Amino acid sequence: MRILVVGSGGREHALCWAIKQSPLCEALYCAPGNAGIAEEAELVAIGAEDIDALVGFAKDQAIDFVVVGPEAPLVLGLADRLREEGISVFGPSAAAAALEGSKAFAKEIMIEAGVPTAAYGEFSDADAAKAFLDDQTLPIVIKADGLAAGKGVIIAQNREEADQAIDDILVAGQFGEAGSKLIIEEFLEGEEISFFALMDGKSAVALASAQDHKAVGEGDTGPNTGGMGAYSPAPALPDDRRSEIMELVIDPVAETMAARGTPFQGVLFVGLMMTSDGPKVLEFNVRFGDPECQVLMTRAMTDVLTALMATADGMLSSFDLRWKDEAAVTVVMAAEGYPGSYKKNTVIAGVEKAEAHDQVKVFHAGTTNSKAGELLSIGGRVLGVTATGEDVKAAQARAYQAVDQIDWPDGFCRRDIGWRAV
Ligand code: AMP
Ligand code: GLY
Repeated sequence: MRILVVGSGGREHALCWAIKQSPLCEALYCAPGNAGIAEEAELVAIGAEDIDALVGFAKDQAIDFVVVGPEAPLVLGLADRLREEGISVFGPSAAAAALEGSKAFAKEIMIEAGVPTAAYGEFSDADAAKAFLDDQTLPIVIKADGLAAGKGVIIAQNREEADQAIDDILVAGQFGEAGSKLIIEEFLEGEEISFFALMDGKSAVALASAQDHKAVGEGDTGPNTGGMGAYSPAPALPDDRRSEIMELVIDPVAETMAARGTPFQGVLFVGLMMTSDGPKVLEFNVRFGDPECQVLMTRAMTDVLTALMATADGMLSSFDLRWKDEAAVTVVMAAEGYPGSYKKNTVIAGVEKAEAHDQVKVFHAGTTNSKAGELLSIGGRVLGVTATGEDVKAAQARAYQAVDQIDWPDGFCRRDIGWRAV
């Protein structure tokens, strides 16, 4: 089969690496990819949100199967366009991707499906939003409706912060179109966990547990990032709780989306708060987590390409997805300053040394090659140093041994990834 992966992060590197191992993969392309992906796939210079060009490339190159990594092209309708051309694709339609693309829509579906979530209100008028706050307790959570690159959620500790967030979003237009609406939501307390399921429109299969560390600092402190590392399995979600989440969240969402004529096909990534009242959904994402995908792909025993194809073809009910009995840890190396401003084009050496161990793989995110052949950083999160081991502790030790082989004076990482599982 001829396969195209869309995206350029560590998640897409892990997907390409896994897909390339399948005997069914004859040709693998990635648009736009990065320096690490170039070792697994042929790079195509088309941006992940250039829908027309991606569809054109898939047609011209007789691509059989497209795997979409990030949410933005899905929300823009890439999967719909490809299916119209008769090209099979892993990833939801725009109508189903609205589960991530609109927080108000996600809430509407949760209510209709009876999925437990925080109480909320939805507003496009600042005065109405502020009036609603009069009856709410603090802290309170304010979320821009649309895609805001992870910056659209404000946890306001007092009324001034809440009013300011409402003005920033609805009046000043801080998030543009993504902030033409907002939701105001009850603040939930508990342990935050992630849950992943493949859904084919009718059936669903839970993936192995995987958890990221969002905070930039050790001990899970400091500002949130896209994820500074991940580990799998995650003890916060033992197997018996996975079937509970399937029944509580995944199955009702699948039924509701199908009943509306917009079945969800792809991977649903559920953010949950384990409250004293039971699990409640914080958000849906319509894609793999990054860096959670890196640990999941590393642990997959079943041919990943066949699992993605079974999802696209509605064949999950008879699919047997298996995981290796070992743990995996991904340590993200980021540019100094991230998630604030950081330098680009700094030189990274030692990746080959880090990968010398056969249980280590370095997934690239923001990297490119200079004309002189040096590896350069071009993003905030730059490398995902991934190792396996008999348990999280062993995988963690191996991952940090590999990190220590990398010579990148302008980079940093957390030294405690996986601590909750050790
Ligand atoms: P979201 O993108 O909706 O997951 O929000 C980003 C982060 O904000 C989450 O990972 C949580 O840490 C936090 N958060 C979101 N909603 C709530 C809530 N209702 N209560 C407490 N924390 C929340
Ligand atoms: N690691 C969290 C995310 O991908 O959204």
